[in-house]
Amino acid sequence: MTTTALPQTSLQIPEHTASAVCEGLASRPKWLPSWLFYDAEGSRLFDQITELPEYYVTRTERSILAARAEEIIGLAAGGDALRIVELGAGSADKTRLLLSTAVDRQDTVFYEPVDVCASALEEARERIEREIPGVIVSPRVQDYTKGMELDPPNPGERRLALYIGSSIGNFEPEEAELLLERVRDALAPGDSLLLGVDLVKDRATLLAAYDDAAGVTAAFNRNVLVRLNRELGSNFDPEAFTHRAVWNRFRSRIEMHLANLLPQTVQIPALDMRLEFSAGETIHTENSYKYQPGQAEAMLVEAGFDPATTWTDEKGWFAVCLARAN
Ligand code: TRP
Repeated sequence: MTTTALPQTSLQIPEHTASAVCEGLASRPKWLPSWLFYDAEGSRLFDQITELPEYYVTRTERSILAARAEEIIGLAAGGDALRIVELGAGSADKTRLLLSTAVDRQDTVFYEPVDVCASALEEARERIEREIPGVIVSPRVQDYTKGMELDPPNPGERRLALYIGSSIGNFEPEEAELLLERVRDALAPGDSLLLGVDLVKDRATLLAAYDDAAGVTAAFNRNVLVRLNRELGSNFDPEAFTHRAVWNRFRSRIEMHLANLLPQTVQIPALDMRLEFSAGETIHTENSYKYQPGQAEAMLVEAGFDPATTWTDEKGWFAVCLARAN
């Protein structure tokens, strides 16, 4: 086999990156798809976000999972062995609570983390196999929003799908519903889905979680431009953009934007684009929908699930719902 080093300009640009960036940046207001956040650096910054004092989401969900792991695993398994698939697994930190509980009940647990970030999956696999003997990890680098190809379960096994971290909230309501339907289609009757959703709470708490004092969320947001510069050869000045978090209470979502401070022209050679940014112009990079109690269960019913149990923390900030595929 021969390998040839290609000059930078002839690197292959993934088609989906090209078309999404073209469409988003040609729109008014400009936007970018949020999956672009998760390159290796973005996944690393995101892990840092989950440890910030202001970012209550991870900590709160983890406390619910820690308190309820036995109950969750027991209900999902019924009398069968469980096989666990996780959508958007990332570093799979909270999942370890559920995996070790499952290993206590059955000797071997198959765990299939699905994520768009290969490096995060590889690290998760290495760490989980080292720390929880009995778990066999088969990572899948897949975009789960496009549907999932799962191996058929072994006889006597049921699946538990995990979709935690309120990742569902990063989709528009119609997309979120479609996504749940796709997950339902990938499962068999009797399989379960564990869905974690963030609930509406006071504005100050919400805003601080998406605009931390240390500036990690700001760096995470700007990293999308660093990625475009690297992958598309563009000349964004990431530091010329400020991170802005907005609570849109009419749509019940936190919005993240990048606001350009001074007029600038950006070239994107790979897409043959030239963009004028006026002072103050924004790029909308992400939404994080927050739900009312009961709303996640209603979405699950629409998608073909029977909600079984919902657990929340004592402040009622976060909900974890277990539902069975019907
Ligand atoms: N889904 C989580 C949330 O909305 C995680 C997340 C996605 C996030 N993108 C983010 C957190 C951007 C902070 C900033 O909270």
